[in-house]
Amino acid sequence: STYVVIMAGGIGSRFWPVSRTDFPKQFLDILGTGETLIQQTFKRFETLAPVENIYVVTSTEYTDIVEKQLPTLLKENILSEPERKNTAPCIAYASFKILQKDPAASIIVAPADHLILDQQAFEAVCTQALQFIDIHHDALLTLGIKPSYANTGYGYIQFNKETAQSGVHKVIAFTEKPDAQRAAKFVNGGEHLWNSGIFVWKARSIINSIEKYLTDLFQLFKEKQSWLGTSFEKLMIADIYAVCENVSIDVGVMEKAGNVYIIPASFRWSDLGTWNSAWENMGKDRRNNAVAGNGVLVIDTTQCVVHASDEKLVVLQGLQNYIVVDTTDVLLICQKEKEQDIKNYVSEVKKLK
Ligand code: GDD
Ligand code: MG
Repeated sequence: STYVVIMAGGIGSRFWPVSRTDFPKQFLDILGTGETLIQQTFKRFETLAPVENIYVVTSTEYTDIVEKQLPTLLKENILSEPERKNTAPCIAYASFKILQKDPAASIIVAPADHLILDQQAFEAVCTQALQFIDIHHDALLTLGIKPSYANTGYGYIQFNKETAQSGVHKVIAFTEKPDAQRAAKFVNGGEHLWNSGIFVWKARSIINSIEKYLTDLFQLFKEKQSWLGTSFEKLMIADIYAVCENVSIDVGVMEKAGNVYIIPASFRWSDLGTWNSAWENMGKDRRNNAVAGNGVLVIDTTQCVVHASDEKLVVLQGLQNYIVVDTTDVLLICQKEKEQDIKNYVSEVKKLK
């Protein structure tokens, strides 16, 4: 049957000061919709898999937040990681766990902190992907997004224009996070899609690929897999995470594997990577300000994104193209065009303390 793995261990530093290491972006209502990103993500999968098949992988320090925000998620389906080792170990852990339960399992892997509009289109693409891997058991499938600009934070996927099966294309090359020049070339060439970070594959197939391309990681799990589901699982994971390599699934497997396929997705998608992408996806007032928080008054202000806590009244006058974020202990006022630098300010601030 179908399983879902929600990856929720990132720290979202470009959304500082709202997103903090101790309470990152996936657990926040960045857009002011009344729901946090992980709550929206969880809901998105409710029709695709039974709740007992939905897993969340996150850092040990966030498991309490996950429990609180997703009360219907089974507690034993929260997989906790003692260290941050990027997405490959996270996916290996969840896949071994699921394979133990169901050797024929199909898995949808998804980030916890993305925005997807058009729920129906999303479900249709996932169903299509699941049907494909039921025939092509070995396939590693990803959902692709038409690129609109040379973003260097994404994976770029060159695909064969001929379809392998209705809507599904064979991938020619997968390039994770190219430099600006290559990214621009990919966007202008019209032969590439962005990797959405949503993967669909058989548990067996991703584990086979990890065995092939991340052999050490595979061996660590393989040796101790009988400990999964026992009282030794925590210990086992601590041992593995203490020594395993920090590597993303994109660099570790997807760039190297030959059996990668892609479905160009039709739904509207944003990885909500920065405040500006939040602004693009929020409701706006008549001067194009996007405001989250109740006590905010904007005067002669245009194109701003404002995020305020409800504890204080915030009044802005005469600002254009600014990010204004007010939290209990930090106030950030930053030009929108400098938003990529926010993660650097975080390290500067840490030095001040
Ligand atoms: N459990 C766990 N443990 N989750 C993690 C870890 C970890 O150590 N590191 C990251 N994650 C989660 C993040 O919370 C996020 O939901 C997801 O895994 C992806 O990690 P990111 O760190 O956000 O990856 P990225 O944005 O740099 O790149 C990926 O996503 C892009 C699309 O947004 C890649 O897959 C790119 O190819 C892709 O284009
Ligand atoms: Mg991301």
